[in-house]
Amino acid sequence: MKEEKLMVDGKRIDGRLPEQLRDIKMKLNVVTRANGSAEVKFGKTTAIASVHGPRALFPRYLQESGTGILRIRYNMAPFSVNDRKSPGPDRRSTEISKVIRLALGPTIFLEDFPKITIDGFAEIIEADGSTRVTAINALSLALAAAGIPMEDLVASCSVGKIDGTLVVDLNGKEDNNSEADMAFAMLPNKGVISLLQMDGALTKKEVLKLLQSAKESCMKIYEMQIKVLKDFYKGE
Ligand code: CDP
Repeated sequence: MKEEKLMVDGKRIDGRLPEQLRDIKMKLNVVTRANGSAEVKFGKTTAIASVHGPRALFPRYLQESGTGILRIRYNMAPFSVNDRKSPGPDRRSTEISKVIRLALGPTIFLEDFPKITIDGFAEIIEADGSTRVTAINALSLALAAAGIPMEDLVASCSVGKIDGTLVVDLNGKEDNNSEADMAFAMLPNKGVISLLQMDGALTKKEVLKLLQSAKESCMKIYEMQIKVLKDFYKGE
């Protein structure tokens, strides 16, 4: 049951319009011991991504002779949510780690790294909705910062339906009280969708409209990713 209205006079509880992303901040190389790292904030949702590798994979039986592998660990800090989250992996984080790996995998030339692993960690420091997509944006930047050969970046956002209105980038309250929400990721240049998950019920027309909004939002996020990478390498 909804506790409060999520849309009032065409605006959302945080004052945004339906198609408006939250304030987005991106920073590169925030972890000195990583080969590449990034911090991405969507409003209060904060993800720190750290990429290690390409490096030798042990134990050896995990190695694949014809290709490298990508390993991803998504983790939500105990203090990242209102009700303390018990530390350590759970079913949710295992599933999210897997879908993030599948969302990023298509862009990496893993076949160039037989027997090798690339390890990506996404730590959620503060969670206010859409943490998996924030983690994907941060990991995509961290992979690029680590110099991993990639075909494209991966840009990601959430979309959904709240109080009968189609919206982009759901915050925590919207996510928990939504009629439907979708997590979406794409390779912007290739036009390939690498993540599509949905909870709730939508008509076909609504799904198509949300896919269009998700693509447009991902293109905006992609522009920001490119800018932060260019600024970093120009030394700004
Ligand atoms: O974060 P994301 O939308 O990718 O995944 P979710 O499982 O749909 O979680 C939605 C939101 O619920 C999170 O972003 C958090 O704000 C909140 N949440 C929470 O408060 N406590 C948890 N143990 C898990 C999620």
